[in-house]
Amino acid sequence: MVGKIIVQGGQKLHGKVSVSGAKNAALPVLAASLLTPHFVKIENIPDLYDIRIMQQVLQNLGAKITKEEDSFTIAAGQVTPKDIAEDLMRKMRASNLMMGPLLARFGYVKAPYPGGCAIGSRPMDLHLKGFKALGAHITEKHGHIIAETKCLKGAEIHLDFPSVGATENLLMAATLAEGYTVIRNAAKEPEIHDLAEFLAKMGAQIEGAGTDVIKIKGVQELGPVESHSIIPDRVEAGTFMIAGAMTGGDIIVQGARSSHLEALIAKMKEAGVRISEDECGIRVSCNDCINPVDIITLPYPGFPTDLQPQMMAMLTVANGTSIISESIFENRFKHVGELQRMGANIKVEGRVAIIKGVPALSGSSVEATDLRAGAALILVGLVAEGETVIESTCHIYRGYEKIETKLKNLGANIQAIRHQ
Ligand code: UD1
Repeated sequence: MVGKIIVQGGQKLHGKVSVSGAKNAALPVLAASLLTPHFVKIENIPDLYDIRIMQQVLQNLGAKITKEEDSFTIAAGQVTPKDIAEDLMRKMRASNLMMGPLLARFGYVKAPYPGGCAIGSRPMDLHLKGFKALGAHITEKHGHIIAETKCLKGAEIHLDFPSVGATENLLMAATLAEGYTVIRNAAKEPEIHDLAEFLAKMGAQIEGAGTDVIKIKGVQELGPVESHSIIPDRVEAGTFMIAGAMTGGDIIVQGARSSHLEALIAKMKEAGVRISEDECGIRVSCNDCINPVDIITLPYPGFPTDLQPQMMAMLTVANGTSIISESIFENRFKHVGELQRMGANIKVEGRVAIIKGVPALSGSSVEATDLRAGAALILVGLVAEGETVIESTCHIYRGYEKIETKLKNLGANIQAIRHQ
């Protein structure tokens, strides 16, 4: 699907917006459904392009999926260890999350190498080192990875970097390995905790998910799950919070969990934004100028790289100079060129961006180069003078459910034009 989003800047956002289920929690939980021949029911799944790809990958492997509103019932009893289809793997890197579950359940998986993407090279060495430590034999040829084993065996794994995907893949694989596995320097993202909760409902024995040491005692078989609800999307919540603040609005982000957003909240408060929490969600308001702040992206609980472009959008209209250092992905400043087209004053030196706030931005025709870059362009469109036309919106729908409807309900002047 191709399309564009058109924004007329200048409206302050007001009212309430609800957060959808987290894409980055739903994807590994869907992959984990392959670990059992029994049915699992997963609720609060967002309706996103990436989720539809994941659904196709599961169906392609033989899983039966019944959808009812935002819930999926998945029965993977008929799944066979078929190769993961190349075209689907290319469409979404997260389909590599099927590797851990398939290897654990069938002792074999063959997948095309996922390759790089717009924000960086994104290798899989940490996933593969972990599979090897668990006793898998890995062959890499003709652009494919084959992992095979008679039986996975628990192991001590120390990740060189707390990779989210590697932690998830190894956690899933270890649930069916023989004996104990310890993953050290594990990623601590809330999505890992959500995955572990889901696996525990299947009967997995896991301790420490959400900390940097995860201990897993392998079991012989995993069972059905009656119900599991995906956590709210902290990146979507953060995007709305920034939108509320930079338009000088007053909004409540319903369902947002402040415990998942501490680094963002700290930086927004430092920038002079008022933030409070009640039982409905997080309230964000801002009447004054935005102060400049310096940011470095880090693994959780540090400032999330997935909110870096949106935060940069806000700082383009701050009252002074901010510095953003991107430490997670080597190529995550693609939005800078587009922001400059709209009048932003940004200089990039390697992985550091220096942003001098300007009094006003002007609407322009720009391109969403990746998912979060696209979100950043919508945000600047909300405050720019005149009309902003954002092309290549397919990236945005990979991660934001009904974004234009949600913003329109907050008072934004925004419309989406989609062509099949
Ligand atoms: C996940 C998120 C993504 C987020 C990222 C970092 C999902 C579906 N996606 O991606 O939205 O931006 O975490 O918070 O959850 N690395 C290696 N070798 C590996 C694996 C990773 O060098 O084997 C490097 C990557 O190139 C990158 C860094 O580690 O520089 C972080 O990657 P990782 O945490 O694995 O991100 P993903 O799981 O791909």
